[in-house]
Amino acid sequence: MNSDSKFVSQELFWQTRIFDSLPYPSVVIAPDRSIVGANKKFYDIYKLSSEDILGKMCFHTFLYKDTPCNSEDCPISKVVKNKTSHSYTIKHQYKWEERVFSPILDDDGQVAFVVSSITDITRTKSLENQLIGVKEFISRVMYSSASAIVAADRQGNIEVMNSVAKELFGDYNEGAGKIRHTEQLYPPGKAKEIMQMLRNEKIGGKGKLIIPRTLIVNARGEEVEVEMSAAIIYDDTGQESATMAIYNDLKDKTKVEKELKYTQSQLIQSEKMASLGQLAAGVAHEINNPLTGVLFYASLLLEKENLDGGAREDLNCIVEDANRCKNIVKNLLVYSRSMDSNKNIVQINEIVEQSLSLVRDQKKLRNIKIVRYLADEMMLINADTNKLNQVIINLVINAADAMNGSGKITLNTYRDKLHKKVFLEIKDTGEGISLKNLSKIFDPFFTTKEVGKSTGLGLSIVYGIIEEHDGSISVKKTGAHGTTFIMEFPMYIPQEEGPALCSPSSYK
Ligand SMILES: Nc1ncnc2c1ncn2[C@@H]1O[C@H](COP(=O)(O)OP(=O)(O)O)[C@@H](O)[C@H]1O
Ligand SMILES: [Mg+2]
Repeated sequence: MNSDSKFVSQELFWQTRIFDSLPYPSVVIAPDRSIVGANKKFYDIYKLSSEDILGKMCFHTFLYKDTPCNSEDCPISKVVKNKTSHSYTIKHQYKWEERVFSPILDDDGQVAFVVSSITDITRTKSLENQLIGVKEFISRVMYSSASAIVAADRQGNIEVMNSVAKELFGDYNEGAGKIRHTEQLYPPGKAKEIMQMLRNEKIGGKGKLIIPRTLIVNARGEEVEVEMSAAIIYDDTGQESATMAIYNDLKDKTKVEKELKYTQSQLIQSEKMASLGQLAAGVAHEINNPLTGVLFYASLLLEKENLDGGAREDLNCIVEDANRCKNIVKNLLVYSRSMDSNKNIVQINEIVEQSLSLVRDQKKLRNIKIVRYLADEMMLINADTNKLNQVIINLVINAADAMNGSGKITLNTYRDKLHKKVFLEIKDTGEGISLKNLSKIFDPFFTTKEVGKSTGLGLSIVYGIIEEHDGSISVKKTGAHGTTFIMEFPMYIPQEEGPALCSPSSYK
């Protein structure tokens, strides 16, 4: 054996050994589809001997077919044609295999043989499936969350937005308002500030941040108040790999807070009214007796015939002022609810008409147009007609005062049958109430009118009467174009009356 042939035989020896040591079964096929060799792993796994396969056709041996496969489906023809590897994955019952077909080229660069290796990828496949399952689970959790969730890469490019986030920010896939970067989610400079806070260990811990109230900007450029929590996502080596944030729209919360504040202020007002009412009742009773005395003695003096003109005039003033005081005392007693109440079931529209007929001839209302929009429905309330007349008259006179004698007063009644409420609104075209005074108008003795002309008791009496009717009153709207007062009363629904009255047709 010369040295050349020695090397050739050594090389062949190693190549055969390498082929046999491959950990995966491999088979060598000629371009005419005949099997020319296989490695040890192949024979071991498939329990075959060289006699079973060598010289046989691949389609016959492996696929039990008499004719070759269609060249489009045949991996051998693909490798022969393209001179590059080709692989595909197939599933055998519970096993997944990857079959790789690689060319073995001759000295002319043509495909002399194709080596096909089979790798069991069942474990990889099962991990892949598990990963897909986990990913799907995470995505379902994200998409069923009631909070808006946004995740972005290290550069701030948005990668994921759940449906609530798309609703909150506007759909970033839609034309004009595209959102692609976290900076677009906030007012200018805010995204940077949030990242700085996130990295600051002293604020919420490293990589974590909770902001109870902050602003975001949606795709339409509108600012929305939200509660936000954000986090940096770190990879296994502790490097920042992404960021995520969860947002909750505060619209509903803010609404509830406002309502609560309003209810609180109403409560404070009624507390104040109640204590002042008691005080007023006491004072009114105390003043009533001496006042009767003043009036009595002044009237006695006036009966004297030898009074000079000046004294008579002074006495008349005393009587007039004492009468005014009596009037105030009377009003105070109404306000403090010490007067008896006489309630009946009445149509609110009738009370409105009655009140208007009482004030119609007042000088102040001469140049004022009074308009009525009284709903044509059953709006019964359990009310003291006289007291409600007083309420309406007070509000109409106040409206006239605010308009300086000319303008329009609109009275409007309607109902909310579902919530069993009857409403009365009185709207004027007057000067409006300043914000500063708005919280004081129902206070006893608060007035912006000339001293001596008005008592400032009107609205406090109104408030007391409405409370006595289990109703409420508030300023619905006020401004340079006028003021609207709204009153709400419980609607009375007769239950024991005959069908004619309470049949559905009589309650539209
Ligand atoms: N319709 C209205 N438009 C503007 N201001 C009003 C109106 N009603 C009430 N006000 C304000 O509320 C204050 C208190 O009203 P009220 O208690 O009736 O007392 P008075 O009429 O004696 O001043 C008024 O002085 C006025 O400043
Ligand atoms: Mg008044």
